[in-house]
Amino acid sequence: MVIKKIFIVGAGLMGSGIAQVCAQSGINVILNDISKEAIDKGLKDIAWSVSKFIEKGNLREDKETILNRIKTDDDFSSAADADLAIEAVFEKLELKQEIFRKLDEACQQNTILASNTSAIPITELGSMTKRPEKVLGIHFFSPVPMMPVAEIIRGIGTTEETILIGVDFVKSIGKEPIRVESDVAGFLLNRINFPSTIEAIRLVEQGIGTVEDIDKGMRLAFGRRMGPFETGDMVGLDVTYGALMACYEETKDPRFYPPQLLRRKVKAGHLGHKTGKGWYEYNEDGTRKAG
Ligand SMILES: NC(=O)c1ccc[n+]([C@@H]2O[C@H](COP(=O)([O-])OP(=O)(O)OC[C@H]3O[C@@H](n4cnc5c(N)ncnc54)[C@H](O)[C@@H]3O)[C@@H](O)[C@H]2O)c1
Repeated sequence: MVIKKIFIVGAGLMGSGIAQVCAQSGINVILNDISKEAIDKGLKDIAWSVSKFIEKGNLREDKETILNRIKTDDDFSSAADADLAIEAVFEKLELKQEIFRKLDEACQQNTILASNTSAIPITELGSMTKRPEKVLGIHFFSPVPMMPVAEIIRGIGTTEETILIGVDFVKSIGKEPIRVESDVAGFLLNRINFPSTIEAIRLVEQGIGTVEDIDKGMRLAFGRRMGPFETGDMVGLDVTYGALMACYEETKDPRFYPPQLLRRKVKAGHLGHKTGKGWYEYNEDGTRKAG
């Protein structure tokens, strides 16, 4: 099955990034969000990012051709004939379950339904539908236009045929698929990454190292493009918190419980880039304030 039309629920950081890479790959996109501001911001961010790709000579088509492939809709009626629907709303089980129920009703029988969840079991979303065999996880990494990988996650009911459609789709938009054969909390890559992020926060809590030094050290010693706190501010502290809680609730393993400093920052609204303050502070134009 070749994916020609995709319906995306959630026009935030991830949904807009997914819309962009699909449009750049020739796929027609319908972008849906309950918030008009989110749609407007999503479209603005996409236009900016596509311009950057074009400036660097990384795209063959012009900006207008790419942006014209993205339409918006504030209800699910245009999901009916989509080949694939991807959900990228907040990391809340009940909200995602509601979206899957609605997608199942709105989409034709053959539409594949995917979630970009960071940690919620795919089985819990598939079970909301009459087509659990056609439900899978496609977990992109942020920023989607730059990160060359996506996890393809099997729920208990997902068929191999659906997994292979996911694998082909991810390849068709220029990313490397990583197969995850069971929807364990955190899947493969976050399952490895979460404990190290938690440890970094605890070391700051205990006054053993600073945010700046840990980020610098992780970049220089381990060749990472960004340290855990720089990544955390980009991802959103609330998103990290939600993913850790989902992992903790599923496993009851205290290794995944969000540290106090992260919990307090989320309560205080220090969510990273999006609120101008997280692990670092940011100017109006998004640049980091000098420390
Ligand atoms: N941020 C990351 O780095 C990252 C990485 C991988 C996966 N994820 C996962 O992707 C999902 C989205 O994360 P994000 O960072 O894009 O969040 P975000 O907060 O930037 O965007 C979420 C969007 O969902 C919209 N939304 C909420 N309820 C809705 C509804 N009922 N119908 C339609 N839209 C609705 C919101 O208005 C918002 O625009 C989460 O499950 C998250 O765990 C995030």
